[in-house]
Amino acid sequence: MDDVTRTDYTGTGISEDELAPTPLQQVRRWVDEAVERSRAQPDVPEPHALSVATVDADSMPDVRTVLMRVLDERGPGFYTGTTSTKGVHLAANPQVAASLVWPAMFRAIRFRGRAELLERDLVEDYFTSRPWGSRISAWASHQSQPAASRAELQRAYDEAAARWPDTGSHDDVPVPDFWGGYRIVCDEVELWGGRRDRLHDRLVLTRVAEGSLEDAAAWSLHRRQP
Ligand SMILES: Cc1cc2nc3c(=O)[nH]c(=O)nc-3n(C[C@H](O)[C@H](O)[C@H](O)COP(=O)(O)O)c2cc1C
Repeated sequence: MDDVTRTDYTGTGISEDELAPTPLQQVRRWVDEAVERSRAQPDVPEPHALSVATVDADSMPDVRTVLMRVLDERGPGFYTGTTSTKGVHLAANPQVAASLVWPAMFRAIRFRGRAELLERDLVEDYFTSRPWGSRISAWASHQSQPAASRAELQRAYDEAAARWPDTGSHDDVPVPDFWGGYRIVCDEVELWGGRRDRLHDRLVLTRVAEGSLEDAAAWSLHRRQP
């Protein structure tokens, strides 16, 4: 690349003494601050955008962005097609990594762990909360399969729309059995704070015992070089 732009990262970083008492509380704090910023300024347009990396049967990595729609003591989670490429990868190898990044805030969070399918009641509650058009698209799309054309997709959408018309009710479209979600049961959570001269902060929470993200005793803290 010829036109290199260099931005000095002028964030305040993160220090050990300002960490929240548990990993969950710290992640929530940064997510909440990103959401607040997204409401106040246009420079954090999608604060929940989560890049999720999986590996295929040949150990070839793959990555895509989803929306983090779950965050509790068991880990961050997202909804997707379970027969999609990511779903196929995770069924064969649940090891997963993911990151949230808010460049305008000079912050990122990195998760590593194991993916688990989200409970069906969570999936059903979330699916029925989505707008009708999104629920119809879930039926119309065999996520990650080849599509012959845009017209073919539109036809599949129109067919699903005719089958389950919009009645204004949340249960007018059934939940597809190929639609679900994953939770990342974390073994490591890294908080990255960009600072001047590329001397960034990296605080890493590593699982040392059984326990949730709300269980401080299950985690040890160390700092990593930038
Ligand atoms: C900002 C953003 C948010 C997205 N959110 C989701 C999501 O929540 N769930 C999903 O399945 N795909 C989402 N996508 C699409 C995915 O990036 C991806 O194209 C899709 O999940 C298929 O990935 P796969 O073929 O690797 O399984 C999103 C894309 C972007 C750019």
